[in-house]
Amino acid sequence: MTIFSVQSTIFTRASVAILSSNGLKRFSFASSFSSNALYSSPLPKTKKRRFPIVSAVDIGGVTIARNDVVRDDDPTNNVPDSIFSKLGMQLHRRDKHPIGILKNAIYDYFDSNYAKQFEKFEDLSPIVTTKQVKCSPPSKACIFLSPISVSNFPFVWCQNFDDVLVPADHVSRSLNDTYYVDPQTVLRCHTSAHQAELLREGHRRFLVTGDVYRRDSIDSTHYPVFHQMEGFCVFSPEDWNESGKDSTLYAAEDLKKCLEGLARHLFGGVEMRWVDTYFPFTEPSFELEIYFKEDWLEVLGCGVTEQRILKQSGLENNVAWAFGLGLERLAMVLFDIPDIRLFWSDDERFTSQFKKGELGVKFKPFSKYPPCYKDISFWISESFTENNFCEVVRGIAGDLVEEVKLIDSFTNKKGMTSHCYRIVFRSMERSLTDEEVNDLQSKVRDEVQRKLNVELR
Ligand code: PHE
Repeated sequence: MTIFSVQSTIFTRASVAILSSNGLKRFSFASSFSSNALYSSPLPKTKKRRFPIVSAVDIGGVTIARNDVVRDDDPTNNVPDSIFSKLGMQLHRRDKHPIGILKNAIYDYFDSNYAKQFEKFEDLSPIVTTKQVKCSPPSKACIFLSPISVSNFPFVWCQNFDDVLVPADHVSRSLNDTYYVDPQTVLRCHTSAHQAELLREGHRRFLVTGDVYRRDSIDSTHYPVFHQMEGFCVFSPEDWNESGKDSTLYAAEDLKKCLEGLARHLFGGVEMRWVDTYFPFTEPSFELEIYFKEDWLEVLGCGVTEQRILKQSGLENNVAWAFGLGLERLAMVLFDIPDIRLFWSDDERFTSQFKKGELGVKFKPFSKYPPCYKDISFWISESFTENNFCEVVRGIAGDLVEEVKLIDSFTNKKGMTSHCYRIVFRSMERSLTDEEVNDLQSKVRDEVQRKLNVELR
């Protein structure tokens, strides 16, 4: 798999999945580098837990308690501590971090080409609603940072899915793909979650940048938290009337021109191509690919906004375009960053290489420590999913796990299916000892059996 075909868009998948209730519950791991952590319990004396549990985080000045997000009392909840500790870290707001540098470069493009007409939002809470609820906030954790939703209280918007017309049976709604706080509250899986609420509040041209959360596989280009930027632009009849074009064509052409300009601004004179695709919230929909290092790289999803979304906000006579791009993917290419885990590293040998305003400084790997491979085989049950397995591994090994690969699968005469996975352990900062890796692997074996209802072989 190339780094270019991952983690930018999910909604192109037209396939559907029946919602299952086999999501994982909780894990006892939290990252050590959560600068946003307000209260951490002291390092445990036992060897069992490698990191302190974060008991509250700060999201743009609002304190969110762990117990409101990692919940024992709700069977739907599948947010582990490792994910909770990332809330509010907002890498996109760090000017010297590759993600922040890239965001600022995109801002520069919009500011200079659109005379600062695009408003910028980068502090909207990642804890969002799935459905419309006409009562008090569905979850205590569902605190709206912007006055937008608060002003509409108790009418809470249905940000992540319903607002942007994601079908009821779409795969992205499943517990396997999305982190649920409770049935009505999720960690946003895309910045499109904010489109409709911003429109309702009267914004017409805006960029929304934020951390997004998706349960996924593990390799050098997949991480359960990454960053997206959403762009949205509404037009009025006078805009397209002058051009003599039909409104949809006018918006589609304007969108393509804008994004081709952005790609040139970031990458210089590159070859690009447009690919038709599907999103529930746009029609027509496109992906932009650029030719980079002998491969076509999908950099963003976009399209002309579905009229229903505009109508919901009283914009009957308008047309609009929207785009969503994955910042990690672009930054990996622009800065030559080989592993997505590095974005979360607070190792000075990484952080000191980047400077505010300097786009495209090439990252010099400080060293490559040896990998350690461990295999695990088990008979799977009907409810088994690879995302659930990966989350168990990450819950134990954290950023010491580089990749999880299915290396063998077979079904015996009794109809039982066996999977063998290879886990690659490798730290980006030091050599791992045999003892440490054996210990991690033994915990993985225990947890997999305990949580995933599988039979080890
Ligand atoms: N939200 C889409 C995704 O994450 C990207 C997108 C945004 C597509 C806006 C079209 C318009 O997959």
